[in-house]
Amino acid sequence: MAKMEVKTSLLDNMIGVGDMVLLEPLNEETFINNLKKRFDHNEIYTYIGSVVISVNPYRSLPIYSPEKVEDYRNRNFYELSPHIFALSDEAYRSLRDQDKDQCILITGESGAGKTEASKLVMSYVAAVCGKGAEVNQVKEQLLQSNPVLEAFGNAKTVRNDNSSRFGKYMDIEFDFKGDPLGGVISNYLLEKSRVVKQPRGERNFHVFYQLLSGASEELLNKLTLERDFSRYNYLSLDSAKVNGVDDAANFRTVRNAMQIVGFMDHEAESVLEVVAAVLKLGNIEFKPESRVNGLDESKIKDKNELKEICELTGIDQSVLERAFSFRTVEAKQEKVSTTLNVAQAYYARDALAKNLYSRLFSWLVNRINESIKAQTKVRKKVMGVLDIYGFEIFEDNSFEQFIINYCNEKLQQIFIELTLKEEQEEYIREGIEWTHIDYFNNAIICDLIENNTNGILAMLDEECLRPGTVTDETFLEKLNQVCATHQHFESRMSKSSRFLNDTSLPHSCFRIQHYAGKVLYQVEGFVDKNNDLLYRDLSQAMWKASHTLIKSLFPEGNPAKINLKRPPTAGSQFKASVATLMKNLQTKNPNYIRCIKPNDKKAAHIFNEALVCHQIRYLGLLENVRVRRAGYAFRQAYEPCLERYKMLCKQTWPHWKGPARAGVEVLFNELEIPVEEYSFGRSKIFIRNPRTLFKLEDLRKQRLEDLATLIQKIYRGWKCRTHFLLMRKSQIVVAAWYRRYAQQKRYQQIKSSALVIQSYIRGWKARKILRELKHQKRCEEAATTIAAYWHGTQVRREYRKFFRANAGKKIYEFTLQRIVQKYFLEMKNKMPSLSPIDKNWPSRPYLFLDSTHKELKRIFHLWRCKKYRDQFTDQQKLIYEEKLEASELFKDKKALYPSSVGQPFQGAYLEINKNPKYKKLKDAIEEKIIIAEVVNKINRANGKSTSRIFLLTNNNLLLADQKSGQIKSEVPLVDVTKVSMSSQNDGFFAIHLKEGSEAASKGDFLFSSDHLIEMATKLYRTTLSQTKQKLSIEISDEFLVQFRQDKVCVKFIQGNQKNGSVPTCKRKNNRLLEVAVP
Ligand SMILES: Nc1ncnc2c1ncn2[C@@H]1O[C@H](COP(=O)(O)OP(=O)(O)OP(=O)(O)O)[C@@H](O)[C@H]1O
Ligand SMILES: [Mg+2]
Repeated sequence: MAKMEVKTSLLDNMIGVGDMVLLEPLNEETFINNLKKRFDHNEIYTYIGSVVISVNPYRSLPIYSPEKVEDYRNRNFYELSPHIFALSDEAYRSLRDQDKDQCILITGESGAGKTEASKLVMSYVAAVCGKGAEVNQVKEQLLQSNPVLEAFGNAKTVRNDNSSRFGKYMDIEFDFKGDPLGGVISNYLLEKSRVVKQPRGERNFHVFYQLLSGASEELLNKLTLERDFSRYNYLSLDSAKVNGVDDAANFRTVRNAMQIVGFMDHEAESVLEVVAAVLKLGNIEFKPESRVNGLDESKIKDKNELKEICELTGIDQSVLERAFSFRTVEAKQEKVSTTLNVAQAYYARDALAKNLYSRLFSWLVNRINESIKAQTKVRKKVMGVLDIYGFEIFEDNSFEQFIINYCNEKLQQIFIELTLKEEQEEYIREGIEWTHIDYFNNAIICDLIENNTNGILAMLDEECLRPGTVTDETFLEKLNQVCATHQHFESRMSKSSRFLNDTSLPHSCFRIQHYAGKVLYQVEGFVDKNNDLLYRDLSQAMWKASHTLIKSLFPEGNPAKINLKRPPTAGSQFKASVATLMKNLQTKNPNYIRCIKPNDKKAAHIFNEALVCHQIRYLGLLENVRVRRAGYAFRQAYEPCLERYKMLCKQTWPHWKGPARAGVEVLFNELEIPVEEYSFGRSKIFIRNPRTLFKLEDLRKQRLEDLATLIQKIYRGWKCRTHFLLMRKSQIVVAAWYRRYAQQKRYQQIKSSALVIQSYIRGWKARKILRELKHQKRCEEAATTIAAYWHGTQVRREYRKFFRANAGKKIYEFTLQRIVQKYFLEMKNKMPSLSPIDKNWPSRPYLFLDSTHKELKRIFHLWRCKKYRDQFTDQQKLIYEEKLEASELFKDKKALYPSSVGQPFQGAYLEINKNPKYKKLKDAIEEKIIIAEVVNKINRANGKSTSRIFLLTNNNLLLADQKSGQIKSEVPLVDVTKVSMSSQNDGFFAIHLKEGSEAASKGDFLFSSDHLIEMATKLYRTTLSQTKQKLSIEISDEFLVQFRQDKVCVKFIQGNQKNGSVPTCKRKNNRLLEVAVP
């Protein structure tokens, strides 16, 4: 989501005023008070138009975080509270978007925070410019060049623990997109005197202390160094340790930075070897040695150190030793060697050390440039950052301070020029009338120093080059002569009587009224330092070194390239490089950061008004404000101005349709701002007095409150309305859905009801039709029936005459007949066998034929019996007649009967005719014998039996002895009246005789026979045929038998088993004879 752009302004929540041009009234006091007020509120940055004043807070503030970077990124300069990032952003965007090369000029006195400011600018630009691996490497190298240069070029001074002892101008190069490509660093005049001597309370360059504290034992041994600072004459012991600074850690940082910047390991080592050599040079000491010709000579006290230096640098010891003892001057192809006295030897030694170190520093800068230079040849946009040493006023000010202050003077000059020019250009650009404003122009001081004919530097050079004895004093004299009349030059020796009695001005000094204050310069050393002499013997000795770095630092030592011309003096060199710098800066769009030091104690929270006042004065800040306010204090483009104040007027609020300028005009007229208070430029409105602006601000503030209420009101209204609309919309949706639902439901109901009704109606109709159809069908059936009957009747009526009256009966009979016929025909096939004993008979087919069927069975049986009988012979017939007679007599009366049925009646069981025994008997009987059988005659007295032959003839019954055949009794059949027998299964029988007959005298006979049934039957038949009377046969289990006179009862009893299966007879008493039948 795009970040919401909130238009803010520098004017929001201001502490004091963020821009000094708005200060009212404007004077030194209000200026300082405003700075102090802001400083106390941690607002260390304040603007003067586009210039940033930065007050050193001497403590870390949380205002440089990545979030802050984001805050200031792509925002207009006056949109947020004053910040160095705002300036950096403005410069970067102007470079990137408007293709304007930029320079950032950071000025201020030592310790005011210039170096920190330059680093902040660089880090901001690094943070906002392009990204990517390559770009990041370039950025990293640019940033990491700082620690290296600071280690070699910065030192602790009384004013600043990390004071830059060289001037630095760095060009950062960008491509058309704004991505960094590389950079170029220029260095200005390293304060090399510090190598050999440091003022009280100050240190040599950081690198010496860092090397001794941070190097490993191994490295120290290699460099033949000792860790102890006190071993080295060049290191002041005053403040060898700086509070809060860890030299050892910084050493590691520097080594690391060197690696990042691109130093090879051997290069870094070489650099440290040179540093070690410089340190050790300081320990070479000389002693005087008198020679015959009276000239002073010097000798190295202890050659050990020299030896070590030579080993370290690869210089022939004797060569170096000689270079410290002699000075060779070449003139007109003649070489003249002079000896050096002790002082000269020391001078030579220190000169060598200073040169070695300063050349090493320049080499470092070049080496870094080689690494960070842009790799392409495309056109580059450039942002230059100038961090030059600040204006210096010490107790003893020498050549260095003079040079430094000259440089600052030039910067002030360019500042004035550019600011004024800018201001003027803006007025012209905007078509506003330019009104002249008085301010101090330091061009005159610059002229005093750099004028080619009578400038101080020119005089100095003249003196240095002049033949004859040249001393600092002669130089001062010259100055007194030439510059005495100059307004800003002060000297006691000058003819001008102004300073004759000024005791504050010693004789060996001159004073210059710099734009930042008066500075008293000691003339001593000016000539020497300007000459910057290094004896040729020494440079040649150095050139002979096998140490490649050292060799390369002294190219003039090459005998092949001997140049008899004097090298340019330090002063003229510096002047030239400053001139180049100024030219360079003039081609660029300047951005100023003016650093102010709030106190001398390097302490936070202390705001020394006097000190600040002094700086404000010499920095010309009030002038700066005045110039800026010349005519108009405040200006702003029409668009942001209208945007900011449009709510103050009805016509412009909330939207102004026309051009912004017309809107601002309407606005200002409406607010009744006096016309003399403002002016319309081409793109900006110019406000003369800050008061007007503040009035506008106040009105705006008030209006904003009203607007906030209005917005609140409208918002609340809007919210309620939206809510209401939403509710209404929702309600409509709900209602629509509900109606739809209700209609759907109703429709469903109607539909289902219709279906029910439909189905009922259809059912009803169907039933009606069905009923009708059924009725119709019945009618048809009835009609058919009636018709059938009717036809029947008609037919019958028609055919009645053809039928007999009793046709039915006939039919019935016929049918019956047919059935019977069928029955008989079937019976014919089903007839059983002809055997009379066959019990089979077919089942009856019809119930009504039951009696017929039974009858038929009977007839058939009779018929087959007859058939059977018809087969009989006469004899057989007789037998069966007899058998039939027996059946009629005994069947179902005598238990013995059934056993007799199967026995054929033989009659003559005894073969009387054939048996001779019975011849007599046979002879005695003339008649036919019907029965001849042996029977048992029961004795009436005891019941025992005797065998007798029983014979029956046609008329008689005979009993004969079995053995003899002699007839014992003969009874005519007519005398036989009755035969008695039991009903049981015994063969006993009694033959009753007619009373009074002859035979009856002996009484009745009681027999038993095996053939009782046959005998009784034959007796009956014979009696019947002979007497025509039926013989009575009594079957009873108790009957009386006549014995002579007595009648005896024969009684048959059942079941005595004692005598086996044979019936036994026993006489019980006179009257009773008991027969036990088994
Ligand atoms: N913006 C800042 N925030 C916090 N501390 C700062 C800031 N600026 C400067 N300082 C402190 O002040 C000290 C001096 O600053 P700096 O080295 O930048 O001064 P200088 O103007 O470069 O001095 P010289 O001219 O001696 O080089 C720094 O070491 C730091 O401790
Ligand atoms: Mg600095």
